[in-house]
Amino acid sequence: MRELVSVDHAGVGLITSPPPGRRAAVVAGVAGHVPEQALANSDLESRFDTSDEWIRSRTGIRRRHLAGPDEATSDLAVAAGVKALKAAGSKDSPDLVILATSTPDHPCPATAPAVAARLGLGGVAAFDIGAVCSGFVYGLAVANGVIAGGAASTVLLIGADVFSTILNPADRSTNAVFGDGAGAMVLRAGNSAAPGAIHAIDLGSDGNLTDLITVRGGGSRFPERDGEDRWFAMQGQAVYRHAVRRMTESSRKALAATGWEPEQVDRFVAHQANARILATVGTELGIPPDRVYSNVEMVGNTVAASIPLALADAHADGSLAAGDRVLLTAFGGGATWGSVTLSWPRLA
Ligand code: UT7
Repeated sequence: MRELVSVDHAGVGLITSPPPGRRAAVVAGVAGHVPEQALANSDLESRFDTSDEWIRSRTGIRRRHLAGPDEATSDLAVAAGVKALKAAGSKDSPDLVILATSTPDHPCPATAPAVAARLGLGGVAAFDIGAVCSGFVYGLAVANGVIAGGAASTVLLIGADVFSTILNPADRSTNAVFGDGAGAMVLRAGNSAAPGAIHAIDLGSDGNLTDLITVRGGGSRFPERDGEDRWFAMQGQAVYRHAVRRMTESSRKALAATGWEPEQVDRFVAHQANARILATVGTELGIPPDRVYSNVEMVGNTVAASIPLALADAHADGSLAAGDRVLLTAFGGGATWGSVTLSWPRLA
């Protein structure tokens, strides 16, 4: 990436931070889409030994949305993409479509080309990113890099997942947490000092933690997709601890690279994993609780869709205003993590 400041080969991560007045990605539109069917905590009580009280107190979640039997990731991605392109206006159409997902329509090929074609963008570059819950932040880094480097002028970045297709029907823990959805953002080339510009990006990973969040079967290591190996499995408590630590550290790096103190952040929009994680990270960073945005109550953990869905909701309900200093952060399978600072633009 052109604006690379430092890469630490000991595994500390990657930080980019364009100086003012340079070409950078600028947010032009954002939108979300969730499937029609909503599943309340009380609906889970008939399937599992669980309770609305347990789920709300441990996660902050009241309901999540589930894709219908004929609804795949690309369907949600297209719906969000249509809305985001409309929100961004018809100034110019994307040169690149990036889809962050870990539930592609098929193991092969990638889903992004089909999404691009259905959006009427045939011929553009299109690929998937698989960084699980960090996928959208990783996608932002790639979008910013290709725009800053001059390879693209407009990028459509979508995060979409249909985790309901990989949740173990016997696992009350993951079924309580995850929901399906999609969120999309249009990024255009602009000035790094412009409202809406991406400022700093911090990305990291630790492959020693691969087993914390996994679907073991169906890949080249264990091709069979039988038995328990076909389902998503998460070591919840360990993930919780690593998520708090990495989201906090990564946020600090992105803030430092931007030159912002935590109290200067107007809106903190973290991956909506669990309300307690969001609150803890906010406290660790020193960001006042009323600046920590959350929609986890209504949608649960929507994986790669989580951050763009939260941004779309925050924009729609007036929680994000033009000029706001925004901090995004995520932790997910891999393990992967990342944080982004940006200013919020004046959007339609
Ligand atoms: O998106 C990527 C990042 N993901 C995350 O950051 C998720 C991080 N982890 C979490 O949010 C939490 O670990 C969970 C919400 C997934 C689980 O909450 P927890 O407080 O960590 O529960 P636990 O796994 O430690 O389980 C405690 C108890 C267990 O019972 P025993 O063994 O103590 O009898 C579980 O079986 O809670 C039980 N339990 C439940 N009880 C009622 C687990 N899920 C449920 C449930 N209803 N839905």
